[in-house]
Amino acid sequence: MVGYRFSHTPKKVPFVETKFRRIKTAIPISESIPLLEKLYAVEARSMHGQLPIIWDRAEDSQVYDAYGNCWIDFTSTIFLANAGHANPKIIASLQKILDQRLLHTYTFPSQIRAMFLKKLIEITPDQFEKAFLLSAGTEATECAVKLMRMHGQTISPLKLGIVSFQGAMHGRTMGAEMLKGNPSQSAWIGYRDPNMHHLPFPYPWTANDSLNKKYDWAKCFREDMNALKAKGLNFNNIAGFMIESYLGWGAIFYPIEYIKALADFAREHNCLITFDEIQGGFGRIGKLFVYQHYNVEPDLLCLGKALSGSLPLSAVIGSQKIMDLPEFGSMSSTHSANPLCCAAGLANLEAIESGNLVEESARKGVILHQRLSELKKKYSDRVSWVFGKGLLAGILFKDPETGEPDGLFPSRVCEKAMQKGLLLVHTGRESIKIGPPLTIPDDTLEEGLDVFDEAIAETLQNTDGGSEK
Ligand SMILES: Cc1ncc(COP(=O)(O)O)c(C=O)c1O
Repeated sequence: MVGYRFSHTPKKVPFVETKFRRIKTAIPISESIPLLEKLYAVEARSMHGQLPIIWDRAEDSQVYDAYGNCWIDFTSTIFLANAGHANPKIIASLQKILDQRLLHTYTFPSQIRAMFLKKLIEITPDQFEKAFLLSAGTEATECAVKLMRMHGQTISPLKLGIVSFQGAMHGRTMGAEMLKGNPSQSAWIGYRDPNMHHLPFPYPWTANDSLNKKYDWAKCFREDMNALKAKGLNFNNIAGFMIESYLGWGAIFYPIEYIKALADFAREHNCLITFDEIQGGFGRIGKLFVYQHYNVEPDLLCLGKALSGSLPLSAVIGSQKIMDLPEFGSMSSTHSANPLCCAAGLANLEAIESGNLVEESARKGVILHQRLSELKKKYSDRVSWVFGKGLLAGILFKDPETGEPDGLFPSRVCEKAMQKGLLLVHTGRESIKIGPPLTIPDDTLEEGLDVFDEAIAETLQNTDGGSEK
């Protein structure tokens, strides 16, 4: 979300009227500009950078403004509304709690919390016996670090090391930004935690055309670990690995052999494995959790976003032995287990189950990825990679002259798509992400992909739009 400012000058665009989209005003519409300016005057600018449309209503896979325009949504409000926007089950469940007049209980027990937690533990694989509920994803990743370190210290007081991946996203609070190992984003912290270590992400291009050749990813993992050892890391002092289950900005997965080697190493050195499933969990890739794609058994999962599909709710789940390491009262969060969030979470999990949304994501993912591989061929001088599984995709763009990553072109495609009635995930870098609600009807998905194709073609033909900051 950096480097590009979407134009706030209303632009006359062709009228669109289909079953799923309607664009009948200039985009952005001039009536929305005073409200946008009001927001910009009072809100920190770090909140800004998304497409300049004002959401009025969102239902299933469509987003509406108050001026008669309607978009197909390929964002799920950034990977949250897996069960569809304003899912009727979630709304009914929230309504019930509102009618009951139970808006907050701090950490006093409530029936809805017990019902939600029972459901969460029931639907997750057996090794996850207990949960700790929080509000934001970033709290969940920091909580997992705490648990991994507390576990490490049961073995040795020095077993505090956390190994994570350069460039991964784990949230915006201090510990979470330290996990990223991105010097430009963590410079504000002012110091480095000597017990945080970062592996380079095993990008497919590391292997120099690895998709066609057999590359030894297990060896790659071991060599990268040895490089950390050469810098002073004692393997016996590693408490755990924090793994963003795929690299968020591009939907880039780790090679399976790489993660298997990591898991073997972790078992050998008695360290824990946490998968950060905040973005990928709950069916996004056609499996309940992304880690299941790698065929390994993590100790902890961080959950958020599509856990409730609506209200602020995150969680860490794990075995009783690990989850009960902190003493009574020593791990808490005022809004965790809020009755409304639990009600939303319970109805959301039921909707995912009853709608077979995990299987639906896998089935519709075939349609999505077939179309994207055609687009990759069609725009081969612009599209460098297409990644993802299920209803998740990352499309990476390049400069046709140099072949280098191009961060500007995808922003302009997002802007063009908005003008045509399609919302894409703008990452602010060389990628566009696609992640529609898992409930999206097949014909809506197909129409959205047609619009994506048109938006690329039309962006290639003209140069208007926003500007680089
Ligand atoms: C993988 C991952 N982890 C953690 C977070 C942080 O979640 P939150 O914004 O709820 O703090 C995000 C947010 O995008 C994420 O994608």
